[in-house]
Amino acid sequence: MKPRLIVSRQIPPAVAARIRAEFDCPWPEGRDMTADDVIAALTQTNADALMLTSHLKFGAEIIARLPATVKIAATCSVGFEHIDVAAAKARGLPVTNTPDVLTDCTADLTFMLILAACRRAHEYDGIMRAGWRRGYGLGEMLGLKVSGKRLGILGLGRIGQAVAARARGFGMQILYSHPRRLPPEQEHGATYFASFDEMLPHCDILTLHARSGPETAGIMDAGKFSRLPKGAVFVNAARGNLVDEDALLAALTSGHLFAAGLDVFNNEPAFDLRFAALDNVFLVPHMGSATVETRNAMGMRALDNIQAVLAGKPPIDPLWS
Ligand code: DGY
Repeated sequence: MKPRLIVSRQIPPAVAARIRAEFDCPWPEGRDMTADDVIAALTQTNADALMLTSHLKFGAEIIARLPATVKIAATCSVGFEHIDVAAAKARGLPVTNTPDVLTDCTADLTFMLILAACRRAHEYDGIMRAGWRRGYGLGEMLGLKVSGKRLGILGLGRIGQAVAARARGFGMQILYSHPRRLPPEQEHGATYFASFDEMLPHCDILTLHARSGPETAGIMDAGKFSRLPKGAVFVNAARGNLVDEDALLAALTSGHLFAAGLDVFNNEPAFDLRFAALDNVFLVPHMGSATVETRNAMGMRALDNIQAVLAGKPPIDPLWS
């Protein structure tokens, strides 16, 4: 008999194909489910496992309502702030995420945000779509050069390091702030700032790659934006709650920031529409990992975790031990 699985969100066809082959699952292609839908489906099918994504708040309340048959919950994301890991641990429920496989694509997208914000991609695209008919003078519609600039990175973990590797290809000077200084083989010549505040005045471009948590919530507030040099560019492909969005909007509208590139927002998907009214913001609907290759790899990694636990082995990517 195949193990029984519930998938709480629509997933790519290749992942659904593996689910069909290896699991007994009523909707192998996934469904967009609420917490109540998930509990009902798990209960009705006596499911062994749950595959979820960050859309589902997997807090203590839903964990307490899980049927006893459920032996693992695997999220298809590297971020896990939607999961109450302590509650899962207290129940003895293995919970896993999908690190590593989305590092490159998230770093690629970060670079898209850097380039698009600095080089006015949103405005240029709008001009073309409106039927460009007037050539610009040499002083009009100018962006900022990316190559050679000073790039500040908050959080030099896996994704931050992958962004730094790309930035080196652009001849950028890399500055970073992180809870601890990294060894030289991970720094690759980047300049460490123990104090985030002290790094900010040296950043032409700042990109956030810190983990979301109580210590980083709202870390980019009005005071931090004011410490960036006038004309700096701000990029966030980490988590929206690292940013005080009123402060960011004020810095963008006052001209203190030249531009921003944003993939993540405080309230998703109902993001603050004041951002959409600004020409100097390049907006993306939380798509850091959204490539065929990476979404397939994330799904497969979640399934590998599920299969490991159902086979009595330790999870590959445990969120608690
Ligand atoms: C992740 O994997 O954490 C991405 O941001 C998608 O939620």
